[in-house]
Amino acid sequence: MNSLIIALDFSNAAEVEQFLRPFAGQQLFVKVGMELFYQEGPAIIHQLKTAGHRIFLDLKLHDIPNTVMQAMKGLARLQCDLINVHAAGGKEMMEAALEGLEAGTAAGNKRPGCIAVTQLTSTSETQMKEEQLIPISLTDSVLHYATLTHDAGLDGVVCSAWEAGLIREKLGSQFLTVCPGIRMSADKTNDQKRIATPEFAKTEGVSSIVVGRSITKSIDPLASYYKWMEVWNSGYNHEAENC
Ligand code: C5P
Repeated sequence: MNSLIIALDFSNAAEVEQFLRPFAGQQLFVKVGMELFYQEGPAIIHQLKTAGHRIFLDLKLHDIPNTVMQAMKGLARLQCDLINVHAAGGKEMMEAALEGLEAGTAAGNKRPGCIAVTQLTSTSETQMKEEQLIPISLTDSVLHYATLTHDAGLDGVVCSAWEAGLIREKLGSQFLTVCPGIRMSADKTNDQKRIATPEFAKTEGVSSIVVGRSITKSIDPLASYYKWMEVWNSGYNHEAENC
């Protein structure tokens, strides 16, 4: 995959259109999350697909297996490239997600890649221990969720770049590691806790990085995107990677 995915964390289609205007003619890999999807619904996906963009639909489903299966069946019809669930929903829920995606994908079409969120990159180890009452280290919790995701037959996980190397070592390089919380050294951290630079993400062999505010809130998003692409692509043999 080896993509730089831009998080379109906007509240409506007009803001998206304004952001994408300088990128006219370019085909991007974009992430649509709950903020945008809950406002605009499937129409925004159709618009972005018509413009030729690849889409990661980041709705982080987490419910009982049957509900997730039925939801995924419907979402599969949007023909996104990537979609996700929370690994905390359990193995049965993740298997149901996959079943729904397969059932909703028309014959001859490729089913969307399905990945699971391990621990959010905004979660610190202290928070995990005190609020989720998980008594192991954050790294072990992420590795546990990644293994569960792998066993459920999903294509990969959302994790921080700090855990991506260990996940690859344990589960192989075909298993996707999609990493948000990526910042250039001069950028603001915002609400993220486990941040990493794109250079570090590359050394850990992450499959794809998700970049939001560093590009979308920049005074010149196009220039900022080019700078990110230059750093992300330089000296990295993406050909050797999967997907
Ligand atoms: O602006 P920033 O680069 O922090 O955006 C990160 C994006 O990745 C947000 O859309 C956020 O919802 C998403 N994300 C995350 N951590 C996860 C999963 C998704 O930050 N574990």
